[in-house]
Amino acid sequence: MTPLLDLEAAVRHLAAGALVGFPTETVYGLGADASNADAVRSLYAAKGRPPGHPVIVHLGRDAVLDDWAVDVSGAARRLVAEWWPGPLTVVVAASPRVSRVATGGLDTVGLRVPDHPVALALLERFGGGVAAPSANRFGRVSPTTAEAVRAEFGAEIAGVVDGGACGVGVESTIVDCTSDTIRVLRPGAITAGMIGGLLETEVVLGGSTRAPGTLPSHYAPAARVEVVPANEIDARATALVEAGDRVGIIAERGVGTSESRVGVVTLATVGSPDHYAQILYSALRSADDLGMDVVLAVQPELDGIGVAVADRLGRAATGR
Ligand code: TXA
Ligand code: MG
Repeated sequence: MTPLLDLEAAVRHLAAGALVGFPTETVYGLGADASNADAVRSLYAAKGRPPGHPVIVHLGRDAVLDDWAVDVSGAARRLVAEWWPGPLTVVVAASPRVSRVATGGLDTVGLRVPDHPVALALLERFGGGVAAPSANRFGRVSPTTAEAVRAEFGAEIAGVVDGGACGVGVESTIVDCTSDTIRVLRPGAITAGMIGGLLETEVVLGGSTRAPGTLPSHYAPAARVEVVPANEIDARATALVEAGDRVGIIAERGVGTSESRVGVVTLATVGSPDHYAQILYSALRSADDLGMDVVLAVQPELDGIGVAVADRLGRAATGR
C-alpha cells in the first residue's frame, strides 16, 4: 500500500523528482517539483491527465510572486494580499522558472499559497514551487483524506503525507487575472461576490476551457448522481428502489430516510453550505465503496460556497 510519509521524506522525494500526495485546506494534492519537467510529466501520466491541461503551482508563504509570474496586475496583487494563504488560485503570466509542462504549454500559470499547516511546512522546507493537481485520477472525485489518496494511487507515487480531513472540501476558486476583465474560471470558497467587492469591479463567471475542473463532465463517481430539491427526494428514492436501484442520499437529516427502507442508505447528512462542501467528496466516494447505483443529492443553497457545491454536483451529474 502507498506509504504514509513524514515531512522530511516527502521533501526528499519531491527533490528527487518523485510524486507526493499532501493535504491542503481544499482537497489533497498530488505534488511534483514545478521546475522539473520530467517530474511534472510523470504527474500527468500518474493521473491519466491529457498534457494540454495546466496544473496549479503551489508556493510557500515566503515565496516571491514575481519569481513565478511576470506583469502581475494590481488586481492580482490585491487578491493575493487579501486571501493568501487560502483557497484562491490566480492565473497570471508565467515566469521562465515555471516549467511549460506544468502550464500545459501556456504562457500563463495558476499560483496558490494553500492555508494548511502541513502544506505550508512542506512547501517552505522544499523551497521551490510544487505543481499539484487534486490527487485523483483524471475525471474522478477529488480526495479529502489521505486514505482516499491511497485508494486512488499505488506504486506510481512515493507516498502521501497525512494531514487529516480537508476543512474546505472543494477546490480553490480560480481567478483569471491576465486581462482587465476579472474572470472566475472555477467557483470555490472565495466567491465572485467577495472578489468583486474587494476589487470594486464586476467579475465575469466562466471563460477558459483549458481547465479540466471546468469540463462539463468531471468529479464523477461510478454511481449516477441526481441533484434533487429536498421535497422531492422521498418520492424519487421510492421510485428508484422500486426499479431495483440501490440509492444513496445526501440531504438534511431525516430527508429521504424518514422510514428505514431497504435499498436506501444515507451517505451524509448536510447542514450549512460550508458543511455540504466539507462532506461532498467523501460522500460521493462512499457511494462507490458501498456499491450504490444512484446518488440523490439535495440541491444546495446557492449562497457562499454553495455555488461551488452546485457546480461540482452538476458536473458529477453530467459524468455518467
Ligand atoms: O484547491 C485546489 O485548487 C487543488 C489543491 C490541490 O490545491 N488543486 C486543484 O488542481 O484542484 P487541479 O489540477 O485539479 O485543478 C487546477 C485547475 C484546472 O482546472 C486547471 O486547468 C486550472 O486550474 N488552471 C491551472 N493553470 C491554469 C492556467 N494557466 N489557465 C487556466 N486554467 C488553469
Ligand atoms: Mg482536479
